[in-house]
Amino acid sequence: MGAAPVRAQLLAVGELAPGRTALLLRLPELIASLRAGHALHLLHAEAGGYRLRRVAPVTHIDLIAGSVQVGLQPRVDGGRDSLAELAPGTDVIVSGPVGQPIGVDPDALQILIVTDIEGFPWVRLLATSLAEAGRSVTMLIEANTAAEIPPTSLLPESVEVVVATADGSLGHRGSAADLVKTFAEWADQIVAAGSSDLLSATGLQLRAAGAEDRTSARVSRPRGSAHATRLQLILAHEIGCGSGVCGGCTYQSAAGSIRLCKEGPAVTADGGAARARSPR
Ligand code: FES
Repeated sequence: MGAAPVRAQLLAVGELAPGRTALLLRLPELIASLRAGHALHLLHAEAGGYRLRRVAPVTHIDLIAGSVQVGLQPRVDGGRDSLAELAPGTDVIVSGPVGQPIGVDPDALQILIVTDIEGFPWVRLLATSLAEAGRSVTMLIEANTAAEIPPTSLLPESVEVVVATADGSLGHRGSAADLVKTFAEWADQIVAAGSSDLLSATGLQLRAAGAEDRTSARVSRPRGSAHATRLQLILAHEIGCGSGVCGGCTYQSAAGSIRLCKEGPAVTADGGAARARSPR
């Protein structure tokens, strides 16, 4: 984590999708350091001396207004989130950035993002940043039903959105991963975020297409390069210190252990920490 904790003013409580809360914070002190893939560590003192701590991905940045939007992730215990019930004007203690930017190869012009509703807060800013940088972005997004899909107004018009719903109420009936093969040849780089089922299925579909590790002709990547590999998985974490101390976000992989709040949230398909240049 970077700078010391600062006091942020809550400007508004909104939604990224039905039931998916977003907080708009006035945060001029940290805004310049934030990139796609970063999260913020939120701390709010509650009654009885309890200090609520949450890791919330950055979903939107307005440099002119000095405001940052973060998405609240559903609590793993299913409980209510008192941060969502704060009144505008309330102060929240914020520190960050948490984690590393999502790496994007500078030569990758066509980016495929595969996500579900849980993953969407982790990749919304990525899609926006890449589109604003002139890259072609396609987002495959899945939900149980059409009513859960985030409004397309949350993304630049240039982002192509392809929807999959489990009940077939909108778009493809089934998983977004079913559509990955269609875009496997097109994509220079692929970023997947969301449930473990979706991440696994995305990897399997790419493997089935023989495209998991294939390098696009546009991407010149020397062997052993520190650039990101073609498929990156975004692993969310909700609670913890956010500073690499508690070990609560440690992810064990064949490539070793990764603290998601320090080396994550992006990991390569083999489980290593991803590193590359950020779009912003
Ligand atoms: S939340 Fe990552 S080490 Fe504590």
